[in-house]
Amino acid sequence: MGGLSFVRTVEQQGEQTNMAHRIGVIGGDGIGPQIVAAAMKAVRATGVEVDEVSFDLGADRYLRDGYVLDDADLERIRGCDAILKGPLGPAIGDARVPGGTVERGIILRLRFELDQYINLRPFSGTSVATGEVLDFVVIRENTEGSYAGEGGFLRKGTPHEVATQGSVNTRMGVERCVRYAFDLAMARPRRHLTLVHKTNVLTFAGDLWQRTFNEVAAEYPDVSTAYNHVDASCIYLVEDPARYDVIVTDNLFGDILTDLAGAVVGGVGFAGTGNLNPSRTGPSMFEPVHGSAHDSVGTDRVNPTAAILAAAMMLEFLGEADAGARIRKAVDDVTATNPVPVTIGDAVAERV
Ligand code: IPM
Ligand code: MN
Repeated sequence: MGGLSFVRTVEQQGEQTNMAHRIGVIGGDGIGPQIVAAAMKAVRATGVEVDEVSFDLGADRYLRDGYVLDDADLERIRGCDAILKGPLGPAIGDARVPGGTVERGIILRLRFELDQYINLRPFSGTSVATGEVLDFVVIRENTEGSYAGEGGFLRKGTPHEVATQGSVNTRMGVERCVRYAFDLAMARPRRHLTLVHKTNVLTFAGDLWQRTFNEVAAEYPDVSTAYNHVDASCIYLVEDPARYDVIVTDNLFGDILTDLAGAVVGGVGFAGTGNLNPSRTGPSMFEPVHGSAHDSVGTDRVNPTAAILAAAMMLEFLGEADAGARIRKAVDDVTATNPVPVTIGDAVAERV
């Protein structure tokens, strides 16, 4: 699995010191604490100096004492250099946690307040359908679109109820996301970038995305570009995924496409993801794409691979490219031995 290199401005490099990286650790729910502990073990095995600050957040915490996330904890998290986060959420069918408590109250709050405007989701592996070796990245806008929470109810609970849910797209927000995607495409061998949207129906938001994409493209003559409607891109991801190098898309399309992409390369169990603030005005947050899998707790099936790969991405983002590469190599080596999933964490830490 290839490592990722992240651009740092001279100013940002200047801020780097030899001090330990301060990592906010959110174990989360279900299998979360176990896989995040395995990922931190791999991090420590690299010899990179880290200070861990733990945050007990998620559905389990909410059920215990009703706490979600307050401003004081948010400020403590803001003071970290990066966050490693496990999956958050109650067991499927557990109705005691109201929908959105964890999603809006913690995950989206952190993404928005820390201005983590890029959701970087790399996918590598063998296509389940075509057998090809795949290596592509989805850049999902992470602070706007239909996740912005615009909308509301009118006459709620009556037969004349109205519910609206808007999609917020700003020129600034779209442009910084599109630019990030062009920069990333430039740094990859194929230099190919596909915009995915639904411009034929979402004629306002789609128009802003398409115009911004075209204007920024003019500054990157070495990057070849394509456009796919989101429905068509679902077919291509299954039937011809090798056409993709970098995809850039809005928040909701990116959410859906990356679950599909995970399944295409063999399951979201292997996908680590970064919620990045490339301007580095706040910490970035790294997490596995998969959920909390409460039904797997205590079994041999608990697989820390995605969390470990998220930790590798975190180290790369913190400027520790060598440590990140060593973790990725160890994951590849261990995976090749077809191990019992729950043993992967220790095996990786030993080989790093
Ligand atoms: C993801 C998740 C989140 C999202 C949920 C848990 C809020 O599905 O990271 O893809 O929709 O972004
Ligand atoms: Mn999702």
